Amino acid sequence: MPQPSTTPRTAIVTGAARGIGAAVAQRLAADGHAVAVVDLDESACASTVETIRSAGGTAMAVGADVADADSVDAAVERVAAELGSPTVVVNNAGILRDNLLFKMTVEDWDAVMGVHLRGSFNVTKAAQKHMVEATFGRVINLSSTSALGNRGQANYSAAKAGLQGFTKTLAIELGKFGVTANAIAPGFIQTDMTAATAERVGVPFDDFIDYAAKEIPVQRVGQPEDIAHTASFLASDGAGFVSGQVIYVAGGPRA
Ligand code: NAI
Repeated sequence: MPQPSTTPRTAIVTGAARGIGAAVAQRLAADGHAVAVVDLDESACASTVETIRSAGGTAMAVGADVADADSVDAAVERVAAELGSPTVVVNNAGILRDNLLFKMTVEDWDAVMGVHLRGSFNVTKAAQKHMVEATFGRVINLSSTSALGNRGQANYSAAKAGLQGFTKTLAIELGKFGVTANAIAPGFIQTDMTAATAERVGVPFDDFIDYAAKEIPVQRVGQPEDIAHTASFLASDGAGFVSGQVIYVAGGPRA
């Protein structure tokens, strides 16, 4: 288990029932933080919470839809009351509604914007008062290499590029309160999300991974722990002079 490299805080990780969010939650807990594991269905958070607790960490499950401001406000207040004022926020919850532009519906567009962009706005806005009061905060937003453009992802790439602008503005507005904001832009990470993409395009996931790995300079796809490691760094006390940045974690310089 990694040694704590930072002051223990309360962290919120959205979309943490599985995948990247679960790995980030586990890593932040291993770093000594108390972690609110937030996902749509509270019961789906149980395995992440149990993994953290069985490793000696502190975690609670919270059901919330990040796209819904009331749901988020209630969740953040519950976290503050039961776990402590949240001063680390990882906006990780995400969905895909991929399609070529001419087939993409307004509902596909709005759903993706709602979770990634409005969701990150809702959670950050609800948590920022705790960070300002504490004169310490770490906001970490999950962007993507898709922000650089990706066929079939007009909605998702726009949302992930939007998150980069959101991140930079947070860094400018909140810096004087001791709050940093950064984005992690992962490349191909092996999760249920990429498995669903493989299924959608009709390629077995193992073949999809092998094909992707050949195109990546380090010759492998990413694992959720690769992102968790970067999140751990950005959340640490020592990263206080890193703000408004987008860190591509993609095994190479490009998507
Ligand atoms: P995943 O699909 O495995 O997990 C996403 C989680 O978010 C799920 O547990 C889901 O229930 C939750 N979620 C969805 N909508 C929600 C909502 N409205 N409120 C609360 N929770 C909600 O995805 P994965 O792969 O772990 O991705 C995590 C983040 O990383 C996403 O933002 C994704 O866009 C981003 N990302 C993933 C990459 C990959 O290759 N897997 C690459 C680049 C970015």
